[in-house]
Amino acid sequence: MSQRHTRRLLSPLTVFVIAAACGGGAGKPATTAKPAANAPAATGEKEARALFDSLCFTCHGSSGHGDGPGAAALDPKPRSFADVAWQDSVNDEQITKTIVFGGAAVGKSPMMPAQPQLKGQTETLAALVKIVRGFRGK
Ligand code: HEC
Repeated sequence: MSQRHTRRLLSPLTVFVIAAACGGGAGKPATTAKPAANAPAATGEKEARALFDSLCFTCHGSSGHGDGPGAAALDPKPRSFADVAWQDSVNDEQITKTIVFGGAAVGKSPMMPAQPQLKGQTETLAALVKIVRGFRGK
């Protein structure tokens, strides 16, 4: 009985493996297999999004309004990234510096944590800045 069961499970898998092998060998570019393989920018974006959704949002809020679950305890509170005047007052370099070195390093609240592990991770940092910029006017 257990053998019959195994065979039933195996055959669709075998068909899939053969199909995948044939697809790869047919000279078709494997566009659906690994889209991020040679697209480092996409990897940076993914990492930045994961970081924002797991860390930054706790204070800055998932829509960047400075209203995350941890924001109530903060003084000063994080500003809203939607603030157009603030967006115009900072350049990308300043935003990057704040993220990597933390608030204390740029004369802001020490509650804004540093992310030293991101130093030199230009793609992830650029993508994080893009996320922050994306809240402009929203
Ligand atoms: C523990 C809460 C907390 C977390 C987590 C946090 N921040 Fe902040 N952040 C702050 C606070 C508070 C300020 C405001 C500092 C001030 O105005 O003195 C701030 C300021 C900033 C600023 C500068 C805004 C300005 O006034 O110029 C940027 C940009 C920023 N954070 C981005 C991020 C990003 C991106 C992440 C995730 C990698 C993050 N922060 C994680 C609390 C946090």
